[in-house]
Amino acid sequence: MQIAVFSARPYDRRFLEEANARDGAGQGFQFVHFDAALDVHTAALAQGCTAVCVFVNDRLDAPVLQALHALGVRAVLLRCAGFNNVDLAEAARLGFFVARVPAYSPEAVAEHALALVMTLNRQTHRAYNRVREGNFMLDGLLGRTLHGRTVGIVGTGKIGLATARIFRGMGCTVLGHDPYPSPDFEGVGESVGLDDLLARADIVSLHCPLTTDTQHLINDASLARMKPGAMLVNTSRGGLVDTHAVIRALKSRRLGHLAIDVYEQESALFFQDLSGEIIDDEAFQRLMTFPNVLVTGHQGFFTVEALQEISAITLGNLADFAAGRACANRVGAD
Ligand code: NAI
Repeated sequence: MQIAVFSARPYDRRFLEEANARDGAGQGFQFVHFDAALDVHTAALAQGCTAVCVFVNDRLDAPVLQALHALGVRAVLLRCAGFNNVDLAEAARLGFFVARVPAYSPEAVAEHALALVMTLNRQTHRAYNRVREGNFMLDGLLGRTLHGRTVGIVGTGKIGLATARIFRGMGCTVLGHDPYPSPDFEGVGESVGLDDLLARADIVSLHCPLTTDTQHLINDASLARMKPGAMLVNTSRGGLVDTHAVIRALKSRRLGHLAIDVYEQESALFFQDLSGEIIDDEAFQRLMTFPNVLVTGHQGFFTVEALQEISAITLGNLADFAAGRACANRVGAD
């Protein structure tokens, strides 16, 4: 069975091929890797393949799913947890098998959220450059002691819980908001309503999925409810945050810091080397001008351990599909 792997970077190839050699032995899975992201123009690359293996910025809307189906593709294997980029209703109508990797080292993303907070709070990114230039002045590097500060976790699922535990361990007061609160969170922090969390937290960290309910969860109104000078961290999905509202809040000095690993229009930018190109995204370029904004290019998941887990679980999902077995990681209507 041939599987077309879209948005395949060298590390995807390495970890998928290693997992295939280990777990796929004897099952005849053959990966065909493409650098290109999947969209209506690139879907034809899946000719001759029974499955596609995709990542966060591959686009599986109705026209793409129809094009894949016409080529004989029957399975979509997501190398990620989120599936907001798949039209699940159309996938179900066409009878696609869609499976994801629901959890892979939640600590990897939680630790990246911590890295963003620590970098921005203590300005280590600026200190690094400054010291290398022989400037040992401390002006502009003043941070806050996190011990004793209040951290608000929006979405206390697997990654939110891991993040909450880290901040709890640092001596922070942890607040959590989740419409389906997990009992595991109870021992770590206090469950509160969203407005309460926004009003009390010095750091607000987003860990809920992107849905029609959570789209632009952070907007002008919610930013106005946050503590003046608070830090907003988003390692979940870019669409949770209204970028223009955040720019307004930064310009008015109400929002103290912004750290993002995801960005609403990231599919045109992330996972590509655009260092020699002109970037047309005005909102992104505006964000780059603020000294109190830190952006990373969707690297929260990017650890050896997480990539090994993603590949192993993807192989397991593929094996379930190939054998016609029930698959615990299937998403959407059957
Ligand atoms: P999860 O499903 O374990 O937890 C998500 C939680 O959000 C659930 O408890 C759910 O009840 C809650 N939730 C749903 N609607 C909400 C709302 N309106 N307000 C507050 N909470 C709400 O998912 P997990 O594994 O913790 O992942 C969270 C998100 O992190 C994913 O949806 C994905 O978008 C993102 N992610 C980002 C990565 C990165 O590299 N930056 C890597 C992996 C995931």
